[in-house]
Amino acid sequence: MKAKRKVLPGIAPKRTPTVRTIRPAIRPRQASVGAPATGPGRPVGATPEASTDAIGGRPVELAVDLGRGLVLANPLLAASGSMGYGVEVADAVDLGRLGGLVTRGTTLKPRAGHAAPRTADVPAGLLLGIGLQNPGIEAVLERYAPTWARWSTPVIVNLCGESAGDIAEMTRRLEGVPGIDGIELNLSCANGGRAAFGLDDGAAGSLVTAVRRATELPIIAKLTAAASDVRAIAKAVEDAGADAISAINTMPGLALAADRGGPAIASGYGGICGPALRPHGLRVVWEVAQVVDIPVIGIGGIAVIDDVLDYLAAGASAVGIGVAALADPMLPVRLADELADACRARGLASASALVGTALPARPAPPSTRGAEYGR
Ligand SMILES: Cc1cc2nc3c(=O)[nH]c(=O)nc-3n(C[C@H](O)[C@H](O)[C@H](O)COP(=O)(O)O)c2cc1C
Repeated sequence: MKAKRKVLPGIAPKRTPTVRTIRPAIRPRQASVGAPATGPGRPVGATPEASTDAIGGRPVELAVDLGRGLVLANPLLAASGSMGYGVEVADAVDLGRLGGLVTRGTTLKPRAGHAAPRTADVPAGLLLGIGLQNPGIEAVLERYAPTWARWSTPVIVNLCGESAGDIAEMTRRLEGVPGIDGIELNLSCANGGRAAFGLDDGAAGSLVTAVRRATELPIIAKLTAAASDVRAIAKAVEDAGADAISAINTMPGLALAADRGGPAIASGYGGICGPALRPHGLRVVWEVAQVVDIPVIGIGGIAVIDDVLDYLAAGASAVGIGVAALADPMLPVRLADELADACRARGLASASALVGTALPARPAPPSTRGAEYGR
């Protein structure tokens, strides 16, 4: 059973990531979904005992406070779309050892998604056009929330809609439901069926304001790198009450069918994910971390521990694994262990020491100015 989130009415959520202690990587596998009161799978908000492993490895503090009582036991999240609603992968993944699970995108009404083909290979990545296939918010609550309530791992529900009203309505339905620890707003969704919320600071800010009014749950605003000035979007969502930012979603792209008679996937445009996305994700995290005080979750092309270390250095307090976890669902858990090892190898007691080391002492020029005029 999950512990209640620690929400202190009237007190601003803590902005600075905090840390707790987890067991070193080399240890008997013990935590599983919903089970332990200590270790990585402990209840949200619990305080574990420090421990050392049999070969004398030092304990490393990995936990991250995303605000409003949402504390991850480690910085490794399953990004939206990588593990469905979690239940589908519960036999294959030690979910209790994930920092958190972000669900598949959910809409007010069920969506069948796009026709096949939905994916195409692109250089160093994958092009996706899934079309937000999901059973709708009511079915999600009915089918999955009772199971989530028994898990120790924080579950963050990813929401998408065509209007701020629709998304606020979904948020109201999530409010107070046991098992739900936070909301991630997919700002790549089209506002009124037109441009994505995340392309305009006014639209992004208004959406977060509407959702903030509807819930006490932690809100994570997920940015798109397609925005011309991601810093303006980041500041707008922070001012509107977002507790954290995740960055980035897939980037719009196109691949052609083999006969060049049209696009390779049925949706036409798709979203690029995988290693091809990593420089975009790093750039956005680096820019955004310079202008906001709320924690940033880095996403995009993470596949190995060096990618995690890069994102932390660029200013991310946590990271999300997307497409790489589809092929290897245990990857986020292994990367959390490898992160602890990387800290130990550097003599660090806490992963927070790795956060922001690549940030400039003074604010860097925005990427909107172009690389040639950057410095
Ligand atoms: C199969 C799949 C489905 C996804 N569905 C969603 C979604 O519903 N909502 C969302 O915000 N992001 C979704 N994403 C985007 C990922 O969460 C992530 O932002 C993106 O894939 C970049 O990370 P990656 O390069 O590690 O995959 C999806 C990604 C994949 C691979």
